[in-house]
Amino acid sequence: MSKKGVVAYADSYLHLGYSPGDDEVLCAYKVTPRADVPISEAAAAVAAESSTGTWTDVDSSVAERLQARVYKIEDDIVYIAYPASLFEAGSMPNILSSVAGNVFGMKLVDGLRLEDIRFPKSIVDSFPGPAFGLPGVREKMGIRERAMSGSTIKPKIGLTAEEHAQVCYETWMGGADTVKDDENLGNQTFNDFYERIARTLELLHKAEAETGEKKGYWANLTAATVEEMARRAEFIQENGGIFVMVDYITVGYTAAASLRQITEELGLIIHAHRAMHAAFDRIPFHGIEFRVIAKTARLLGMDHIHTGTGVGKLEGGPEEMRERIAILRDAVTKPYRGVLFEQGWEGIKPMVPVASGGLHPGHIPALYQIFGKNAFFAFGGGIHGHPGGSRAGARAVRIAMEAGAQGVPLEQAAREARELREALELWAEVEF
Ligand code: 3PG
Ligand code: 3PG
Ligand code: MG
Repeated sequence: MSKKGVVAYADSYLHLGYSPGDDEVLCAYKVTPRADVPISEAAAAVAAESSTGTWTDVDSSVAERLQARVYKIEDDIVYIAYPASLFEAGSMPNILSSVAGNVFGMKLVDGLRLEDIRFPKSIVDSFPGPAFGLPGVREKMGIRERAMSGSTIKPKIGLTAEEHAQVCYETWMGGADTVKDDENLGNQTFNDFYERIARTLELLHKAEAETGEKKGYWANLTAATVEEMARRAEFIQENGGIFVMVDYITVGYTAAASLRQITEELGLIIHAHRAMHAAFDRIPFHGIEFRVIAKTARLLGMDHIHTGTGVGKLEGGPEEMRERIAILRDAVTKPYRGVLFEQGWEGIKPMVPVASGGLHPGHIPALYQIFGKNAFFAFGGGIHGHPGGSRAGARAVRIAMEAGAQGVPLEQAAREARELREALELWAEVEF
């Protein structure tokens, strides 16, 4: 296959039948080779470009001990093993710049999708994992018998800081456990971050006093620099907040890792929004599957992350959710449908999956079916679009959350609660 001056990748990087060692990073890629390229050559090219090789022969004898090996090809799935010593342990950017870098742009492939990754113990040990995770969040919230609720404040953009704080207060008073800023709310001129945080946390403490319940506010501290995010985290802590929210993908892996160090010292729980993930995890033959993003989030130490819902407005059905929940929450992730590798999580706490996006109280029984109770169910329009307003919407959700945990049918709960009945009447026909 090779032409003069062009390396024959397969000569060095194709090792079918090779048995990877325990201390290797394993990647499974869905490969769509260019029409004139055999998949074995495309696979070897991916292994070369993502580890030690390039397009022409360069004496890489020094690199042999670090090179990747294609060890299995099953249909369009190519399995590649990378010695852990190829990477800088503890650096997600460094790892992804290899296994999820140039390779996506190679002309030898018409499509390339990183379907799953297995991190060996030496790499897992080099990351902090969640500071709180599921046990810590339940401990902080004092809620054990049911799924926890969240609410994205709507309208998502446009409220003043004072108006925003008032909607949060109404939502907590209706029975929501936590509220969150939307992913695109930061420090805009119409809603100053510091004013919003101070006022919202003031009303949070008021709601806690009046309800006797612990309440949470996932304040979105996503900012232009890590230094500014640190300032915002400190301000949240000084005002008595226990959560921060960050747009995990748009801030980037280094910023997320820095934030994890900052919140460790401040004792703050990190909620990760995944805005922009669908730019690369939704195309079935190209990009990076969300499973991989979920694994990076758990290693870097987000405490909770959006997974999709299985039933609402965003991508993914119940089985995709179950894969993602297994990755985020199990002690050891076993192969399951699209999860191709067993992943050990020794020393890494479980995260809290967050179902959010197009949800209303009528979805709650299905959400319990898919997520169980160890999750957050979050409602934006499904609370603030209630005919009775945010407090009524939150009350409808709270009643349905408690009914779901006690095995009480939703219709029965609705007979005894007007707010829930009104919510079901309004949204029962909604399909996405
Ligand atoms: C890059 O990072 O741009 C490539 O690795 C350049 O290497 P090449 O010129 O050998 O393709
Ligand atoms: C989110 O960020 O999860 C969404 O904004 C939730 O809003 P929705 O419940 O109205 O879809
Ligand atoms: Mg949103």
